[in-house]
Order: sequence, then structure tokens, then C-alpha cells
Amino acid sequence: MAIDPKGRKSPGYDRHMFICGHERPTGSARPSCKNRGSLELLPRIKQAIRDEGLPSIRVQKSGCLDFCENGIACVVYPEGTWYTLSNDMDITSIIQHLKDGTVSTDNLMKLESE
Ligand code: FES
Repeated sequence: MAIDPKGRKSPGYDRHMFICGHERPTGSARPSCKNRGSLELLPRIKQAIRDEGLPSIRVQKSGCLDFCENGIACVVYPEGTWYTLSNDMDITSIIQHLKDGTVSTDNLMKLESE
């Protein structure tokens, strides 16, 4: 068994956030989150987590989460909460979710039904 260099005793995180960083070329049938600024938003959230000193929060870029029309697509586990984010948004409530699990109701992903 390997010794964890960060002193962790078990794998996993208190919360794990995935933000879609997928990019499609101009003219594609579906939009893509990178073109909406997801990779500018991602470092803002990562920096906020560092600033808060939260060691067991992992925020990372994902591939396409297949909710492209509702992007910037984001999901947070273990709650399994899906968000639609924007690159210029106030991230305070998202950081709060990562801290204590409080869902940011204003940013929940909502799908339109036909
Ligand atoms: S491109 Fe982001 S969810 Fe598909």
C-alpha cells in the first residue's frame, strides 16, 4: 500500500466539481462550454477554493457532459447537483455549495420541455 504524499487515509473528496471544458468548432450543430468561457470560469473557482483553504474539494475540467445547450454545464458530487454557469457570474453561492453542500438554487440547470 502506497503512502499518500498529502497524508490522506482514504481516497475521495468531500465535494467534487466537474466543469465542462469541451470545445466544438464554429458551425457545429451543438454549442460547447469552452466557447461560453468555461475555461475562464474554472480557474476563478479553483482560486476561490484555495483562498478559502478547503483541502478536500476537487474542481476540475471535464469532457462534454452532454447537456451542451444548458452550459456552461457543471455537476457537483456527492449531491449530484447540476448547474448552468456563466463565465462572468458571481461565484459566491457556488463556493458556498462546495463548502457545505448548500445548493445554489439560482444556478440550477433547468431543461425546457417541448
Ligand atoms: S460541451 Fe459542455 S456539456 Fe457538452
